[in-house]
Amino acid sequence: MNIKSVGIVGAGTMGTGIAINVAQSGFSVYLTDLSEAALERAVTAARTFFGRAAEKGRITQEQADQATARISTGTDLAPLAGCDLVIEAVFEDLDIKLDTFRKLNGVVRKDTILTTNTSCLKVSDIAQVIDDPGRFLGTHYFSPAQINPLVEVIRGDDTREEVVDSVLDFCAKTGKKSLLCRDQNGFAVNRFFCPYTNEAVRCVDEGLATPGQVDVVAQSVLGVAFGPFAVMNIIKPQVNLHAIRHLESLGPYYQAATSMVRVGDAGESWKLEEDNGTPPEEAASRVGERLLGSTFLTVLQALDEEVAEPKAFDMGAEMALRFGNPPCRTMDAMGRGEVERLLRPLCESYGTPLPNSLARVGSLVS
Ligand SMILES: NC(=O)c1ccc[n+]([C@@H]2O[C@H](COP(=O)([O-])OP(=O)(O)OC[C@H]3O[C@@H](n4cnc5c(N)ncnc54)[C@H](O)[C@@H]3O)[C@@H](O)[C@H]2O)c1
Repeated sequence: MNIKSVGIVGAGTMGTGIAINVAQSGFSVYLTDLSEAALERAVTAARTFFGRAAEKGRITQEQADQATARISTGTDLAPLAGCDLVIEAVFEDLDIKLDTFRKLNGVVRKDTILTTNTSCLKVSDIAQVIDDPGRFLGTHYFSPAQINPLVEVIRGDDTREEVVDSVLDFCAKTGKKSLLCRDQNGFAVNRFFCPYTNEAVRCVDEGLATPGQVDVVAQSVLGVAFGPFAVMNIIKPQVNLHAIRHLESLGPYYQAATSMVRVGDAGESWKLEEDNGTPPEEAASRVGERLLGSTFLTVLQALDEEVAEPKAFDMGAEMALRFGNPPCRTMDAMGRGEVERLLRPLCESYGTPLPNSLARVGSLVS
């Protein structure tokens, strides 16, 4: 299907960002929410976003007004009947999402493509209430969705191939790069990002370094603009803990670290003020090896499970997380022996076998 008209359910942070992205790309979009106030905030955010683009000379004021006008809003689901694609971005709660899709079944056309923006739930768990799960899949945008160039496109167990193709085409037309992946816990990006933050917290719990020092080491070994603690403070430790808990069924290595639970459950942030020194050399080396080992282990395990292609993991790392040294390219450059040396202590500590994909290191993306 050539998608022309788009509906979005949920006008919070993500629904608003996606609506701006879609309208900016020339599509008309109907944004719906239970809350009138959320819809008003969304329109104001769109007007401000396009207004700034006009002030900076990227578009004319007339284009800014036209883009804003392409977003129509309402609390009624009925206008979704005219949409080729409906993206759900309501609260991250399975019951609320199931209820939303039950209602959508009765409103949209039989050929309307339905997607969920869930970050942590299994797409196939939501698919159970879709009357035709072949037209359903995951589109996981990254915040801020009006700017971040990546979307994970998650194929459900029953998703039809032509539906995947239509959504990939739509993502390209809205200026997004698609990372096609399987419906596995954490999809592709959170599968290694969350354990990497968890390993960072374990290093602090073990007294190897302070949070600020771990961030400095991460900048050096992974080439990230911001270290794991700074990023957790942006996305909120509570949200990160929630995502990690959705990975725990993958095994002992994925259990949330002690302080991750304490800080996340308390709704606190990591204290980073005046804590940005470089740690002593030996500690820096140990922390660096742990962060790299964690990232490599989880990416290689995900490759064993065929979650996505190696180059897709690198694209996710570079685009969604701004890793200067993406995992597969870095592993290829280091070579199998060095990667195995980094993985061994983690595998031994957590009773996890070395991933089979270790044998591919050297030619993952090279
Ligand atoms: N915030 C992020 O960084 C981020 C990133 C990627 C994915 N996500 C996912 O996107 C989804 C939305 O997240 P968010 O951060 O935008 O949440 P949010 O809390 O900012 O917004 C959710 C909106 O959904 C509305 N809503 C709730 N139930 C509804 C219903 N039944 N019908 C219509 N509207 C309803 C609420 O009124 C609210 O405006 C979640 O699944 C979340 O996990 C969030």
